[in-house]
Amino acid sequence: IKHKVYEQLAQTKLLPLYTATDLDYLAKVEEILLENDVPLIEVTFRSDLAAEAIKRLSESGKLMVGAGTVRTLAEAKIAVENGAQFVVSPAVVPSVIEYCLEQEMPVFPGTATPRDIQSAAEYGINVVKFFPADIYGGLKAINALSGPFYDIKFLPTGGINEENFVEYLDNPHVIGVGGSFILSEKVIMEDNGEKMKQILQTLVKKIK
Ligand code: 3PG
Repeated sequence: IKHKVYEQLAQTKLLPLYTATDLDYLAKVEEILLENDVPLIEVTFRSDLAAEAIKRLSESGKLMVGAGTVRTLAEAKIAVENGAQFVVSPAVVPSVIEYCLEQEMPVFPGTATPRDIQSAAEYGINVVKFFPADIYGGLKAINALSGPFYDIKFLPTGGINEENFVEYLDNPHVIGVGGSFILSEKVIMEDNGEKMKQILQTLVKKIK
């Protein structure tokens, strides 16, 4: 699939993972991300506010909004119905992938092994999430997997942090990194986003 999310991810290089627990902070989330030129967000199905957060952020139209932690076909449908522009899963979930492909919706299945990547590739998917990146061998694994899977790009998530993300981004097989280190609702709540803005600004400055 050709879709602008791939270009945006390759350009921004950061995919903030966001689990909404209070919808009153959505405007602040948009402000923080836009101020730092990160117009992407992955809203996870880890809270019961996911659908509503996806809907409101999509309607607002300021960010490219994706759904994350999509483990079931039902969640994929809710994501699409509420305006999500891409779907991220922690694993290769055939029902989710098949539905997304039907909808021409970009889908990033979670992979960790050659078998996973092969399964994704058989669907014609050439950008996969690599998860949990730190546990499954990090950059060493990405380099090894990129031998046979030379035409696949990786979106590592899981254990990526402010210390190691630049190293991941320097790898030519990595399209971008995702994670909860980029955006935290908890940190935003501390002082209405000032500290979060500083943290994100520092991250963005480290990207070449
Ligand atoms: C994910 O679903 O991508 C991971 O839970 C992100 O992992 P992190 O919280 O370590 O960034």
